[in-house]
Amino acid sequence: MKTEASHSHSSPFPPRRGSEGQHGSMEESGDPCIHPQAAKWEGEEGRAEITILFSLGKASLSKAAQIFEFFEAKIHHLETRPASKAKNASHHLEVFMKCEIHNSSISLLISSLKKVVEDIKIRWEEKVPWFPKKIQDLDKCHHLVTTFEPNLNHDHPGYTDLEYKKRRAEIMDLAFKYRDGDPLPRVEYTPQEVSTWKEIYRKLHTLYPTYACKEYLDAFQQLEEHCGYVEDHIPQLQDVSRFLKERTGFQLRPATGLLSPRDFLASLAFRVFQSTQYIRHSSSAMHSPEPDCCHELLGHIPMLANKEFAQFSQDIGLASLGSCDTDIEKLATLYWFTVEFGLCKQNGTTKAYGAGLLSSYGELMHALSSKPEHKPFDPEVAAVQPYQDQTFQHIYFVSESLEDAKDKLRKYILKIQKPFSVRYDPSTCCVDVLDSVQQVKMVLRQVKADLEHVCHALEKVA
Ligand SMILES: [Fe+2]
Repeated sequence: MKTEASHSHSSPFPPRRGSEGQHGSMEESGDPCIHPQAAKWEGEEGRAEITILFSLGKASLSKAAQIFEFFEAKIHHLETRPASKAKNASHHLEVFMKCEIHNSSISLLISSLKKVVEDIKIRWEEKVPWFPKKIQDLDKCHHLVTTFEPNLNHDHPGYTDLEYKKRRAEIMDLAFKYRDGDPLPRVEYTPQEVSTWKEIYRKLHTLYPTYACKEYLDAFQQLEEHCGYVEDHIPQLQDVSRFLKERTGFQLRPATGLLSPRDFLASLAFRVFQSTQYIRHSSSAMHSPEPDCCHELLGHIPMLANKEFAQFSQDIGLASLGSCDTDIEKLATLYWFTVEFGLCKQNGTTKAYGAGLLSSYGELMHALSSKPEHKPFDPEVAAVQPYQDQTFQHIYFVSESLEDAKDKLRKYILKIQKPFSVRYDPSTCCVDVLDSVQQVKMVLRQVKADLEHVCHALEKVA
């Protein structure tokens, strides 16, 4: 155990009971005993600075110190003083300590400490990355990844085509100016753009009955019937968004390009899908190194019209809110191997549900051939699996079903260490941060009321 400072002349002890409120107070460590007070990550990622006050009781200081040593706490400050309200003679010393510890160890440290010492009060400070709390905050979630941008990447099919880049910049500008609540921009696509769409649509349309999962086929049929999905017309985001909203509550907002994983995943928490509106270069109709309207409309939209899959997508989004960079990377990788390149079993055969497959003739054929490796979907494995963003994948993960993928994802998400939980409230389009007993109790009351309605309905139909 390292102690960087063992004693201080100016007392950092919090005010004694009776004077609370003058300088703030520490939380009692009941169950749930730990209460984040502020936001400030310290030191290495995933480590938090905690401030703790306890009475030694019958325990020795060295016994308490062993617990901190066991959890590899880095002590920044340690101070003792006579106990303020000794219940008996043994309560003769209070200990004040500031230390740094990994976030995942805080609960265990406190429960271990409670077996040895008494009257624990604790406060910890973490710096949680900013995340949107209301749907309007998505206006700030527009950070781009420019790896595949045609102005910067020599390998982009449109790199030397000035007219294409100008047209693309015009459409991107519509997204750049968009703010929550604005009508979704409509784009008058040129005959050449419609021709590119037609080539892709025709080719993929012949493959879907054989390779796409049932959920995709059902939704695609609905899109053809109600949303103008035909080969001679590129559907407008406005019409598609209305269609999705009616079915799963998902809506679209225009994106300027490939967004950072943190920003993109955050929008999913609000059932908002950030969608590009420009189209790939005509010289490369069957492959695009970046998302374009063909990828969004043919790959993503049909699956977002499925309730099970919509929930799966929102679950990843909610898990991303306030997560550290390491967890964001894992969630983005999970997204890659499911929403983008996921396979699932249906009636004894393997089908595609990933948008990167269902919008790419070449990769769809490759993924369902005998060439790549197919692994059973396991979020723990998929989250750390290296992936390709330039060529076809070498490995694909196969779920037993979409429901199975959703259940496994939920179990994985519960293991992500965060000092709070979040819940999306569709009535306010806000994310509620559940970091107090009162908030959790309020949600429980709502859940209880919902459950009563469901039970009542069950009685009627049973
Ligand atoms: Fe995508």
